[in-house]
Amino acid sequence: MSGNKSIRYNFHNFIGTNKQVDHTEIVMKEKLATLSFSDGSPSIDFPIFGGTIGPDVIDVRSLYAKTGKFTYDPGFMSTASCRSNITYIDGDEGILLYRGYPIEQLAEKCDFLEVAYLILNGELPNKNQKFEFDDIVTKHTMVHDQMNFFFRGFRRDAHPMAVLCGVVGALSAFYHDSINIHDEKSRDIAAFRLIAKLPTITAMAYKYNMGQPFMYPKNSLSYTENFLYMMFGNPCEEYKVNPVIARAMDRILILHADHEQNASTSTVRLAGSTGANPFACISAGIASLWGPAHGGANEAVLKMLDEIGDVKNIPDFIKRVKEKDGQAMLMGFGHRVYKNYDPRAKLIQKTCHEVLEELDMKDNKLIKLAMALEKIALEDDYFIKRKLYPNVDFYSGIVYKALGIPVSMYTAIFALARTVGWIAQWKELIADPEQKLSRPRQLFTGSKRREYVPFAKRK
Ligand code: CMC
Repeated sequence: MSGNKSIRYNFHNFIGTNKQVDHTEIVMKEKLATLSFSDGSPSIDFPIFGGTIGPDVIDVRSLYAKTGKFTYDPGFMSTASCRSNITYIDGDEGILLYRGYPIEQLAEKCDFLEVAYLILNGELPNKNQKFEFDDIVTKHTMVHDQMNFFFRGFRRDAHPMAVLCGVVGALSAFYHDSINIHDEKSRDIAAFRLIAKLPTITAMAYKYNMGQPFMYPKNSLSYTENFLYMMFGNPCEEYKVNPVIARAMDRILILHADHEQNASTSTVRLAGSTGANPFACISAGIASLWGPAHGGANEAVLKMLDEIGDVKNIPDFIKRVKEKDGQAMLMGFGHRVYKNYDPRAKLIQKTCHEVLEELDMKDNKLIKLAMALEKIALEDDYFIKRKLYPNVDFYSGIVYKALGIPVSMYTAIFALARTVGWIAQWKELIADPEQKLSRPRQLFTGSKRREYVPFAKRK
């Protein structure tokens, strides 16, 4: 890839051949939901809609206009914030589907870019579509060379997530020819740029932190091989990508690619609803992912395992968790939606064993500690009663650790994978005719109106 001209030409060829498939099927139910009041005010009916699968929704959009009241749902425990065709989760059964396909099948049979194509376009690619998609992504992995200087503004020891937030947000300053959100082509170009450049930027964050030179991407490598090459290669010697490791990393990226309306995706959608440009929206998603209750949990799991240190210390740790002593939590356990084993955790556990086998680390102390901890927790009444099971972050950190990736990079790799989901959800939002500025309301509990008191009269 060279100048902007060739970028436009390549993108141009692709756009138009892959219109997003719309499987939307909203059915208005015959029954209505009736809201009645105990004070004798007239009751009000609301329509009920059903999707293809999953719970029906009560359409309360007219509630305020009809009653002057809001719904109250902190944490969105019972709120569908949008309609979506992309990802479906059944938390009770532990099911995860991307565009209808079970995650187990995709993780087993696809590579990451095939899944990316599916998430973005709604269908699995045929041979030509796959070739074209891979080709465009591969040829746009380089970042604007001036970005090298941009990195130098960060401290060497800056957290990679802080660097990612800044650099991804700055893409809108480097690529302002693709921030017109009202133009479909421009949206597609931004999508390709984000997906193609995130591995490069993530690897650059690592290299910068290590004080090593940035590695330019190599077009002969696959998406995931390229990422590993840019992370672990150096200009002084040849770096050969281990195919078992590349497959494991590819699978991890697939498992993290999308997850319905989680906190970071909702952040991207909320930012997107204002008309903000896609690079700014994804940067907002990265900031949201960073928190330990969300993507930051993979980093927290490793810190927790380090703190426990030995299998013999597990009972004491579990006791502290149960007593909620000093906010101790079993990181990598529990999920807002899954009240069953997270299907991604099962797949990562398998990948983890494959990697440890390949690297001759089967007797690794950390994995033994993690497995003992998991077993004890799964048999403990506290966790059983609350339906707390391992989530995707419980084992992913152990794989990264085995690969020699520093703990601070774990959430950054999550962000690189989730960029596909974020951008697909953002595109879906922009194309949705029902899309509106997201503007929640509140239950106000502060002071009522009062008059200003001058300093001299204040007590
Ligand atoms: N360890 C100990 N207790 C827990 C945990 C945990 N990991 N998770 C939930 N609980 C307890 C919680 O204290 C509460 O107990 P009680 O009923 O006595 O008050 C009960 O379980 C219900 O928890 P909740 O906080 O109401 O549940 P939630 O749906 O709001 O929280 C969660 C979900 C993911 C924020 C939480 O389980 C958690 O913080 N887990 C650890 C962090 C983690 O692993 N996050 C990664 C999520 S998966 C990756 C991703 O998609 O981002």
